[in-house]
Amino acid sequence: MDALNNYLENNKERFLEELMELLAIPSVSADPDFQDDVFDAAEFVKEKLIAAGADNVEVCPTDGFPIVYGEKIIDSALPTVVVYGHYDVQPADPYELWDSPPFDPVIKDGKIYARGACDDKGQMYMHIKAFEALLATNNLPCNVKFMIEGEEEVGSSNLGPFIKENKERLAGDIILISDTSMIANDTPSITTGLRGLAYLEVEVVGPNRDLHSGVYGGAVANPINVLCQMIASLMDENGHITIPGFYDDVVELTTDERENMGRAPFDLAAYKEHLDIKDVKGEKGYTTLERTSIRPTLDVNGMWGGYIGEGAKTVLPSKAKAKISMRLVPNQNDDKITELFTKHFESIAPASVKVKVIPHHGGKPVVTPTDSIAYKAAEKAYSKTFGKTPIPQRSGGSIPIVALFEEVLGLKSLLMGFGLDSDAIHSPNEHYGLFNFYKGIETISAFYGEYAAAAKK
Ligand code: BES
Ligand code: MN
Ligand code: MN
Repeated sequence: MDALNNYLENNKERFLEELMELLAIPSVSADPDFQDDVFDAAEFVKEKLIAAGADNVEVCPTDGFPIVYGEKIIDSALPTVVVYGHYDVQPADPYELWDSPPFDPVIKDGKIYARGACDDKGQMYMHIKAFEALLATNNLPCNVKFMIEGEEEVGSSNLGPFIKENKERLAGDIILISDTSMIANDTPSITTGLRGLAYLEVEVVGPNRDLHSGVYGGAVANPINVLCQMIASLMDENGHITIPGFYDDVVELTTDERENMGRAPFDLAAYKEHLDIKDVKGEKGYTTLERTSIRPTLDVNGMWGGYIGEGAKTVLPSKAKAKISMRLVPNQNDDKITELFTKHFESIAPASVKVKVIPHHGGKPVVTPTDSIAYKAAEKAYSKTFGKTPIPQRSGGSIPIVALFEEVLGLKSLLMGFGLDSDAIHSPNEHYGLFNFYKGIETISAFYGEYAAAAKK
């Protein structure tokens, strides 16, 4: 293993320079203006997989952005790790809130600042570098397959068909993903669950055109007022969602399970201070950690209508819109929840307006095992590199494709995330610690050794 550690140490600077190069490509999958850049990022990943020593590397076209595939099969009798990650990023808006340009990566205070630094370019790239190091030092103990996509941030709609059409090619023993976070740099954790998602847009339409708010105000329903009331009514004073049937399938945790969860370190005062809020808010009867992992939620992500330009315009708008997300927990089904929402939302609309519900993407929640060979191997790897046993922790975020990996490929995922919740993913000034980048590469490399030894067929 000395050779491996030497290799990692001697190539540190280059690893980082390459990541900076990748971060400079604005591969925003949601925005058509960046289409070429998304393709460029796929090419970059392809080149680096080839340089690292992967075989059969291919930029696989889809109806959207491509999936980069590559593999190293050293012996078909050995276990196979399938690495998943994404090279696309969220839009960087609002640009003016960034301290440095989002696609001009800079290193400050031991952190790399750029859109995608943590989610997921920095974390995905650790896998390519761990693979390179293992291969270069003759330490790769099992087979590896890479599947790096470019549409995670927009719902992975083309990855589902891809895995269905490529079951053989993607055959393996475990899916390995670094696209989540851990508790703290001195408190490593492994993500053991992800929430599902139902995302939709609603539209409330009042009069057939914008009206003078003096001439008509008071007599005609204002769609924005109505939408606000409708949305407010979706949650009661206990933070409970009021959509009939919403909680029907929710798996309640046992007292034991909740007590266990409660043992994970969590500092509420620091949490509030970090967010600059005086108090937290959520469903009555649950802790903050529970509210963000084992309980479903409903949030407005954006809302607009009427006049939002400079100064004042007196107008009674014709339309109001909002984007709404619901995070789901086992055993909730996103299609069913979308249906329940739609029915309810239509039923609470007053006769003075028309409403429309437009479903966007969704995904199912997952819980991953902690008694598997892969989890145990990961535990050992973290113990070596962090000097501490990692804590299993369910996350509030979503990676919808993970449920499909299980459904279609029959493979469980291992979520070795090295980000921190404070890394500002999807926000201005996203960053990723150099400590996390390098520790991640080390821990992933160690995982391969532990896993191959334990999983030998
Ligand atoms: N990497 C995140 C998911 C994540 C972040 C999980 C932190 C756990 C901790 C992923 O890229 C993401 O942003 N997912 C979206 C869903 C997707 C359909 C847009 C999400 O969770 O909002
Ligand atoms: Mn991600
Ligand atoms: Mn993301």
